[in-house]
Amino acid sequence: MLATKTQKFIYRRALKPYFFSQDPEHVHDRMCALGKRIGESAIGRSLCKRLFTYAHPSLEQELLGMHFRNPVGLTAGFDKNAELTGVMPAVGFGFEVVGSVTGEPCAGNAKPRLWRLPKSKGLLVYYGLKNDGCEAIASRLSRKQFEIPIGISIAKTNSPETVEFTKGIADYKKAMEQMSDVGDYFVVNISCPNAFGGEPFADPKRLDELLSVLDEVQTTKPVLLKIAVDISSRELDELVEVSDRHRVHGFILSNLTKKHDRPTINQDELGGIEKGGISGRPTSEPSNQLISHLYKTAGDRYVIVGVGGIFSAEDAYEKICSGASLVQLATGMIFEGPQLIGEINKGLVQLLKKDGFESIAQAVGSKHS
Ligand SMILES: Cc1cc2nc3c(=O)[nH]c(=O)nc-3n(C[C@H](O)[C@H](O)[C@H](O)COP(=O)(O)O)c2cc1C
Repeated sequence: MLATKTQKFIYRRALKPYFFSQDPEHVHDRMCALGKRIGESAIGRSLCKRLFTYAHPSLEQELLGMHFRNPVGLTAGFDKNAELTGVMPAVGFGFEVVGSVTGEPCAGNAKPRLWRLPKSKGLLVYYGLKNDGCEAIASRLSRKQFEIPIGISIAKTNSPETVEFTKGIADYKKAMEQMSDVGDYFVVNISCPNAFGGEPFADPKRLDELLSVLDEVQTTKPVLLKIAVDISSRELDELVEVSDRHRVHGFILSNLTKKHDRPTINQDELGGIEKGGISGRPTSEPSNQLISHLYKTAGDRYVIVGVGGIFSAEDAYEKICSGASLVQLATGMIFEGPQLIGEINKGLVQLLKKDGFESIAQAVGSKHS
């Protein structure tokens, strides 16, 4: 890893001011197109690796039959169409989630649908599951070899047709079946705040029916559930109780917040926009609370992946010590630059050493011991 401080300085002083002066979705699309090209080129990948990656044995873990070279992953929503699986390992990520992928192709909600909230250190997101659909994405990923574990996040197509309960379930099932031969694990996203019909499967009874149908899909891949951040510990308990009866191996905590009145959100930045979910710093503490609760109540049965507002090694470590074996991020990279991943991994090694741990596994949940 070359001179992280210099990379950080360049990103903060030159690239970020330029990016942040442009439309956020346009910048994201341009960066994805560039990332795709770099990922397809052996020279591009090698250069990227030299610039960004950091490796250390204490960061490695075996979980759910997969090898994770480090615990920092790219969260869902950044690589919606699975075009960045070549470049993300070179940026230093230990794993990635692609999607969310839906049964049918979906153009998403009308633009504008992405706003930056610099004072709140977050993004206001109203994409509405824009993606190419499960058939196109499955064919894009088929026959590809991945350097890191790739999770496939599935959701139901954002359209009036899937609002009817059984059609919604059939849409998830189609996505899972189509994607059953690609990637390493599934994420069932039941917490998209921006789609037609809301989040019906956050209701335990409906979740039970959804999972019963998904249990029928022939796959040996582990399944994780992605949960909303705005739920109480009791509501989480109910979802766990349902999951205990089905093929669920872990939880991803959590998705965007719909609570626009959280004290951590600067109201002036919202400019009166009431729709959408917010990422970044405002999700950090509520996600940590859910992680702690799940670890204490069901940490022996489930792998926990922590996500929400990670901008530093300390933020990632907080989630690990609260009970997460793995962490994921997107907003932090947009605000701090791609060198953040290596910086977090390097910082984690130092934090482990400071606390006398030899591995990430030893630190998981240590806050509660
Ligand atoms: C632009 C954007 C799009 C997102 N799309 C999805 C999605 O399709 N599926 C999903 O499960 N989460 C989605 N998310 C939520 C993230 O995966 C993550 O849970 C949330 O942003 C908190 O992490 P962060 O603070 O590191 O961004 C999206 C987030 C952003 C910022």
